[in-house]
This record gives sequence, structure tokens and C-alpha cells, in this order.
Amino acid sequence: MDVKEVERLIKISREHPLMPETYIPWQLELQPDDVFMPEMLTSLHGLEIYNTLTPVQKLELGRHELVQVIASYAWGECLFCLFMTRHLLTLPMDDVEHQFLLRELIEEFRHQEMFARVIAKLGGKPIRQSGLHKFFGEFSNKYLPADYLFMGSVSVELVTDVYGNYARRAPNIYPVLKKMFDLHNIEEGRHILFTKSLLKTYADKAGYIKRTLYSYVILFNILFVRTMYVKKEIYERIGLENPEQAYQLASKHYKEKFSQTCLKDITGFVDEWKGFNNLTRWAWRWVLGAKV
Ligand SMILES: [Fe+2]
Ligand SMILES: [Fe+2]
Repeated sequence: MDVKEVERLIKISREHPLMPETYIPWQLELQPDDVFMPEMLTSLHGLEIYNTLTPVQKLELGRHELVQVIASYAWGECLFCLFMTRHLLTLPMDDVEHQFLLRELIEEFRHQEMFARVIAKLGGKPIRQSGLHKFFGEFSNKYLPADYLFMGSVSVELVTDVYGNYARRAPNIYPVLKKMFDLHNIEEGRHILFTKSLLKTYADKAGYIKRTLYSYVILFNILFVRTMYVKKEIYERIGLENPEQAYQLASKHYKEKFSQTCLKDITGFVDEWKGFNNLTRWAWRWVLGAKV
């Protein structure tokens, strides 16, 4: 890893911190034309059922799903902070990686507080993670070696970054959310740079088996992220007649949409270190619908 480059990232983080307290226009209330999420990112958009929703139901769908997205980010980042804290203990204090991870932790904690505050501002009620999500999240966080966890984290960061980009570029997004996504995008951009360069050294040394395992860790992390958003309870909340049916349709539909909109950066990254091979390619196609 290039020490000079990491030192540059640390310097930016120290000298130009983005404080959610002042960066986000908390005082702005939702205007009549504002949305919480671009329509195309909502789980039902593109399905026939979407055209039967009233404008209020559409807005509410965006609100509940966005809250779910943010709550999932916050949870994922909190898990990753747990890991980074443990990992710090294994690194000497004068190590540049140690210093960067401290900056990253500081920023990630600020993000979590920002997310919680935005959820409160939207009057959101996040749905808790499923037992399976909790189990895999906590298990992998505790027992996977550092390189695998960094692989997982960068995959989640790359995917959520794409998601955030769609949201913050939507013309009528509620300004509080736009600034939240802007802030996150800027700081995560640095985390991604750091993690990618860290992982390059791991991937360069990895043979066929290890690359295969890395590839699977990433695949499962992405599946993990994708399945956290589409929730039957949200369809109940917005008053759909048949929430179960909507859930079935949306799960299938969202898989396709997600593969079209969110996978390009991450598949590019995996391809860089030859993570697609005969053992992994079929799974990426089958599980994530990726074009690899
Ligand atoms: Fe973050
Ligand atoms: Fe991050």
C-alpha cells in the first residue's frame, strides 16, 4: 500500500471533516414536490401494481424503504466498526493503517449518528434485521480473517455508493437526504480508496482458491445487502390489499433491478483481481443475476 497516498487521505479527513450537525440543513421541512427516494429505486416501481398506488402511497413507499436502507447502512457500519476496533489492537500505533482506521472509525460513528437523526426526522420505524441477517452479520464479523472482512466491507461500500449516487442526483430529492448522501459519498469515497489499495496487496498474493473464496465473500455480502430492503411489512404499512403477493413480485423484480443498477462497480473490482472463474461465475449469475 502506498503510504504517501494513505497519509494524504488522513490529512483530508483531519483538515476537512464534514460535520452532519452543520452540513445538513436539518431545519428544512419536506416540500410538496419532494420525494424520499427516486421512484426507480423503490421496490415496486416497474411492476404493474405500482401504477395502482395513489401519490400518497408512492411517497410513503419511498419513505419507508429509504428508512430501511439507511437503517441497514447504519447497522452494517456499526458491525464494521466492531471489527475495525478489534483489528486496531493488532496494529502498531505508528502504523499508517492504524491511523487511517481511526479516522475511518470516527467518520463511521458520525455517519451512524447522522443516519439515526435522519430516521427520526422522517418519523421512520426501521424493521429489525431478520434472524438470519443478524446471525451471518455477527458470525462473519467475529470469525472471518481481516482480509475477508475488508473484502466484504468494500463490496457493501461500493454497492451502497451507487445507490446513494442515484438518490442524491434525483432532481426532487428532499434536501436533507441529498446532503446526507453527499456527505456519505465524499467520506466513503476515501474509505473505498483506502480499502481497495489495501486489498490489492492481499489479492496480488492470493492464488486460485483464495480468489475464489474472496469472490464468494463479496457475493454473499451483496446478497445480504440486497435482501435487507424489500419488506412485506412496508406493503402492509402503505395499505396494499395483498402485501404477501406484492412481496413475492417485488423480491423477484428487485433482484433484476438491483443487478442492472448496482453491480457494475463491484463486478469491475472483482474482475480486476480475477475473482471470476469456473467456480464463481455461475454463482454470480444465478444468485445475483450479474452479467459476468
Ligand atoms: Fe459510512
Ligand atoms: Fe465506510
